[in-house]
Amino acid sequence: MSTPCQRLQPLLRTTHLGRTCHFHTNTVSTNLDATVAAQQGATHGTIIVADSQSGGRGRMSRSWHSPPDCNLYLSIILRPEVEISTVPSLPLLVGLAVVETLHNIAPSAKAGFKWPNDLLLNNRKLCGILCEMQMQGEAVAHVVAGIGLNLNLSIDHLPPELHERAASLYLATNTRYSRTSTLAAILNHLEPLYQSWQQHGLEPLLLRLNRYDLLLGHNITVQHAGKPVSGTAAGIAPDGALLLQHNHEIIRLYSGETHIGAAFKP
Ligand code: BTN
Repeated sequence: MSTPCQRLQPLLRTTHLGRTCHFHTNTVSTNLDATVAAQQGATHGTIIVADSQSGGRGRMSRSWHSPPDCNLYLSIILRPEVEISTVPSLPLLVGLAVVETLHNIAPSAKAGFKWPNDLLLNNRKLCGILCEMQMQGEAVAHVVAGIGLNLNLSIDHLPPELHERAASLYLATNTRYSRTSTLAAILNHLEPLYQSWQQHGLEPLLLRLNRYDLLLGHNITVQHAGKPVSGTAAGIAPDGALLLQHNHEIIRLYSGETHIGAAFKP
């Protein structure tokens, strides 16, 4: 029987992304595996994919629920040739690639982007992105871009506390999606976007990003450095910062948790 990595290859139109592929039936975290592989010299574009994770991790030391047989858990090793100041915009680029791919494969499911690294569907989390960078001196050694995408997740896969918080493409459309085809579609879409980002940064892609920006124009609260800051979301800056209009001035935020409305619900 062929492995998911073997089935992926004929579907790829990429030069680098996914051409080296490692699959695990179960692993602790594909981001952890990818970090070790990158430290051992794995090439740009190498991917680690798992059917399930026992310690899938998210931002802010959160965990990522990773049951088998349903979702995509993927980490991509990237070796960007950019200034270090460009790297914080990478999760937005990856988010754009995933959200546009989802609109292509499931146009009726209106997934959107919530700065800095979430895709939501019907106000519930559909996909999380975790980019982890390692430096070598002043330069970027590598970035591991981890993507957890709830594709065929059903309610039975979820603990009760996630019933109201998690979305999946299956739950939204009552259709099941091939994980291999979806993975290929994401990588095929991401590679040209990545090349453009390496040369020109995020700026030429901002209009496309704005189209899916769920926060734009809404009153939002950002949990920033332990304090809530409220204002109107005014878009994303070319360097990836969230622009927040607050008391007639525009504040630029580079990290934080966003929530639509005044109250903050972590
Ligand atoms: C977040 O929403 O905080 C980010 C979640 C990222 C989860 C993915 S699943 C594949 C990869 N491996 C991990 O351990 N995490 C990322």
